[in-house]
Parts: sequence; C-alpha cells; structure tokens
Amino acid sequence: MQWTSLNDLREKYLSFFESKGHLRLKSFSLVPDNDKSLLLINSGMAPMKKYFTGEVTPPRNRVTTCQKCIRTPDLERVGHTARHGTYFEMLGNFSFGDYFKKEAIPWAWEFLTKTLEIPEGKLWPSVYEEDDEAYALWRDVIGVDEKRIVKLGKEDNFWEHGTGPCGPCSEIYFDRGEKYGCGSPDCKPGCDCDRYMEIWNNVFSQFNNMGDGTYTELTHKNIDTGMGLERLACVMQGVDNMFEVDTVRNILNKVCDISGKKYGVDNSTDISIRAITDHARASTFMISDGIIPSNEGRGYVLRRLIRRAARHGKLIGINRTFLTEMCDAVIAENCTAYPELTEKKELIKKVIANEEASFNKTIDQGLKLLETLMEKGNILSGADAFKLYDTYGFPLDLTKDILAENGKSIDEEGFNDLMQKQRDLARSSRKASDAESWSSDGISFDNVGKTEFSGYTDNSCTSVILDIVVAGEHVSTAKEGDKAIIVLDKTVFYGESGGQVGDTGSITKNGACFAVNDTKKTGGGVFTHIGNVASGEFSVGDTVDLAIDVERRDAIRRNHTAAHLLQAALRTVLGKHVEQAGQLVNEKAVRFDFTHFSGLSPEEIKKVENIVNTAVLSAVGVDSKEMPIEEAKKLGAMALFGEKYGDVVRVVTAGDISVEFCGGTHVDNSGKIGTFRIISESGIAAGVRRIEAVTGFNTIDLI
Ligand code: ALA
Repeated sequence: MQWTSLNDLREKYLSFFESKGHLRLKSFSLVPDNDKSLLLINSGMAPMKKYFTGEVTPPRNRVTTCQKCIRTPDLERVGHTARHGTYFEMLGNFSFGDYFKKEAIPWAWEFLTKTLEIPEGKLWPSVYEEDDEAYALWRDVIGVDEKRIVKLGKEDNFWEHGTGPCGPCSEIYFDRGEKYGCGSPDCKPGCDCDRYMEIWNNVFSQFNNMGDGTYTELTHKNIDTGMGLERLACVMQGVDNMFEVDTVRNILNKVCDISGKKYGVDNSTDISIRAITDHARASTFMISDGIIPSNEGRGYVLRRLIRRAARHGKLIGINRTFLTEMCDAVIAENCTAYPELTEKKELIKKVIANEEASFNKTIDQGLKLLETLMEKGNILSGADAFKLYDTYGFPLDLTKDILAENGKSIDEEGFNDLMQKQRDLARSSRKASDAESWSSDGISFDNVGKTEFSGYTDNSCTSVILDIVVAGEHVSTAKEGDKAIIVLDKTVFYGESGGQVGDTGSITKNGACFAVNDTKKTGGGVFTHIGNVASGEFSVGDTVDLAIDVERRDAIRRNHTAAHLLQAALRTVLGKHVEQAGQLVNEKAVRFDFTHFSGLSPEEIKKVENIVNTAVLSAVGVDSKEMPIEEAKKLGAMALFGEKYGDVVRVVTAGDISVEFCGGTHVDNSGKIGTFRIISESGIAAGVRRIEAVTGFNTIDLI
C-alpha cells in the first residue's frame, strides 16, 4: 500500500469502476434539483434519487461519481475536533436495477485490496444483522475470516437519509491499530473508540421511505455506495484526520501563512485554523454552484460559514480581510477535478469579499452590543439574540460561540419563535402576491404527450385539441363564457419559461373563438393555453387554427435579444463575474438581474447602453441552433448559473457579441431591435443588481 494523493485516489476509483462498465458522471451541483427534502446535496446518491425510484431513466444503469457534499448538523463542532467538517467528497458506484450484492461486494474488495493494496487483514466488513446473503458473500466468496465479519443492527447498518431510496447496508472498516483502541477485549467495528474507521458503505437500496413513516418496495433493486474521499485518503496517506490529507493540509497551511500561527501548538488556535480551512472549502464550492449569502435556506448556511470563518480569523489575530486568499488556495487544490472553480473564480472571490466586508462593518458594533448584553446576565434573551441576527448580521451559531467562550448561554427557543414569526410574515406576503395569478399549476396533464412547438419560425398553425380543463376538471367541451385551459398536439404559442412571458392570441374554428390570455409549459413539456371562450364552443378532437398576437411577440423578441446583448455588454464593462441572476422579458420591457457588487455609475450605464446600441445599429445576424451540450460549451455559450440542462441544448448567437444557452424567441437580426434604452438600475439583494430597459416602439414612446 502506497502513499497516494487525494487527486490520484479519486481518479483511481473512477477509472476502476469505468473498467467495470460504469458511466463516469461529473459531480452534480450542491444545490438539489427539484428536491425540497434537502437543502444541500449530502451524499453521492442524493442527486440520483429519481434514477433509483425509476421516475427518470438514467443515462446508463451503472454509473460512478465523485460527488461534492455538504453536511451541516455539526457545523458548530467544526474546528473544535479534527473529525468534524462540513464539506467533503463522496466516491460512489451505483446500480439502477442492474447488478446487486454479489457484484458490489467483490468489486469493493478488489478495489481496496488489489488496486490500493490495502492489506486484507486490516479490513473488517459489517453486515445488517438479518442480511444472511451479504454475510455469506463475505465469508464464502471473499473468504474473510468470520471473526472479522461483524453483524450490526438497524442503527448502524440500515442507511436512510430523509425521504427516498434506502436499505440495509454492508460497511467496510479499516483497522487503524491498537494504539487508537480502547483496549477492551470486545473492541471491534461498531465500538465507540477510534480504532476501527468506517471507510465504505455499500447500501442495498430496496425501499423507498415515503416520508410519512411508511416504506414501499422499489420496483427494482439498486446499489448505492459511498466512500468519503478524504477518509480513504487518511488511510492511504497514513494520517489521523482529514486536515492532514495533502490537499486539505495545503489549504490549512495557507491559514498559518496568513496568520503567522503554527498548527499543532496551541489548542484554541488549532480550532480556528481548522474552522477556517473547512469553511473556506465549503464556501468556495457553494458559491461556484450559484449560492449567494442571504438570510434564508442555503444562502444562510453560506453566510454562517463565511462569517464564522471571518470571526475565527480575528480570533487568531488576522486583522485584515483574508478570505479571498483562502479561496485561491481552495481553487488551486481542486481546479483540476472541478474546472468550474477556475471559470467562476472572479465571482467566487467577489461574493466572499463582499460578505466578509459587510460582516466586518457590523461585527464591531455587534460585538460591543453583545458585550453589554452579556453583562446583564448569564442567559441572553431570544429578543436580544434576534436583534443581533437581524440588525447586525450575527448568525445564531456565532452568537452562541461567543457566549460559550464566556461561559454563557442563550434562550434559543425565544430566538426561534421570533425567527418563525419573521418567516411567516415573509410567506404570507409572498402568498398574497401569488394568489392573483391563475394558472395550470397543480393540474395534471399526464394523459397527453409533449406538445410540438413550431413558434420559433411560425406565427400560426393548424392543430387538434387534445384536452380541455374548465374549473380545474378535465372536460370534453368548453362553452361560451368558460374560462378554460386548452392543450393541443402542436402550437405556435410560446409557453412561459426562461423569464420570457407566454404568448397571447387566438384559437378559432368556424366562427368560434378562444382568446388566449397566457401560455404556460408544464415540466413534462405540455403547453397550456389559458383563456376564455369568447364565442361558440370547443371540444376535444376539434381541428382549430392558432394565431399568436404577432405585434406583441415581436416586441418580446426585441426585448429578449436585447437581454442577451445587455449581458454581453455588462460583462465587457463590469467584468466576467457578471452572471444572469434572473430576468423578465415581456412586450413592455426587459428586466435583467445580474451579479455585481456596487451600483453602476452614470458613465458605466452609458457605456453599456452604447455597446448594445452599437450592436443594434451594426445589424448582426441572430441565429439559434440545437447542439450537444459539450459542443455548446466549447463555443463558450453562457449558461444559467446552477441550471440543469439536457444533453441537447439550444444556443442563440448574436454575431460575435453573444452566445447563450436559450430556449426563447428572438429577432433574426439585431437591427430589428431598433432602439435600446436603460430606464433604471438598482440593487435587489446583496450582490444582485437589476437593470430595466426598453426597445423598439417602447423607446419611441418614451421619447
Ligand atoms: N448513501 C450512502 C452513504 O452516504 C452510501 O453513506
């Protein structure tokens, strides 16, 4: 067994499983896609739940990944021990109804003992106490001495994490030697001491945890394995904990360089050095996946990490901003495996710098306040803690940390009550604004297939009605005066998506007319035409004529293409950290949100406007083309931050000015935009700005 670097280990694992017919996929984003049960991806299988349940067909029925993961339940412990961390990478090989135990177990053994040459005698498998099949495989096929096969109960050997696929598992432990042990004659895997370290978990995922206490049997049996890359590296590098693993240690050394402190000399300094090391890793990866610090959800986790790191910096005497240098170290250690870190480097550093600066601004005032508050007594009231949070940006755990250092505590319940009240308020104001819109949300259109869309090139077409919904019910006929949703086999109406509003227009049939007020698109690709029957009636099976409101659509096209030119201009004037953070394109204007950290000066606005108008007056061709995603990336097409795309994407190009992934409708020549004028620029959240602009007749109206 030879010392192996973390980066080499990752590669060895992935290529080993490629040699066993697995498709290597890149790590999914840390932001779960359409999974409300999780805030952040916490294991290799989490982004693949739908492959396990059969809801979505995987690209191959055996895949292998190295997944970026974050686990935060022990965030407050990070630093205090060398065992806790939030960010780690998980190696995994997965079977979706393909191979099962009798392949998974021997492959795991082969990788550890042949590829990595870990001595067999150092490895101890454990199995779920009722899993005789796995036990027999270890004993009879692999030939492990029965003394080294441990049976454990549900608590240890049944894997589940929130809702979704789960099942019994078989773990593999590495014996670190007697010196780590408790000395008890019974000491073996499952013991609380440090001797046996779990390195690999093979889950035989057979059940689906429905989240209501019930389990259903999955239609097929799967394999879900997980091995912490840093832990495996500890074994292969003969070190005690992940902070000693090569790449992590290099990041830790950076903290030592900046602070001028040595690691391993003083316990309280070590706590801060480890906390900063872990939090720098987690924050860098979170931002590269599109998370921005905020007061809610993932954004709040990120804020806590950055602020906690900044404060630990102060604790060890770093009296200046330093976290961007930490990002550089994290990126340098990880950019080969995660090229997106290099691509997003500028953005990552800006976000971190901004958060660190705003924390520094308030921390001194907040600390002063906290010191006075601590004089009042030993328990800080919920209201005071909430004030520190709300006004001074102190994450709760920071307040708790400081209190604990002073032997004090907090009325956490009181704090949580106030937090809940604030959340409820935010929710009720959101609900009030949603209630106005009437849509096809919540109605299922499983009975019809994807709608064919010909609206990129055509403004009208003939089509057949496949489904009608009136008052939330599927019906066969809609009569005059009915508010209805009509679904057709083919349409020229653009369904709202990518920030572009849906088309309006008419659906007609010998004198009968349906006025389309809005068009939406379901996740399954069904276009829903929402409106009212102005005259006559419409039935399922009718052949009808569709026509969009062309003038309105042309105005939308102008605004959408202008949004692309605007993004390119912003990147030229402000820098490559500018990314789209949201947009609304309708017939009146384009509202474009983007990442940037300060208000634009009048000169910058003028420059941006000039670049767009130069592109308009140069009348460059605008083309759209479908292509494989890899080809699109090679063209340098701008993608939406954190968005998942299919294998084939549509790419819209405007001359040599802009290339973007986009499903929207555009003018075919930038000259058709006619005119472009920015009407406002403002900030809408920390690090996010908004520009509103008009084109075509709207500019003329403005004049
Ligand atoms: N999903 C299993 C784990 O995370 C493999 O341990």
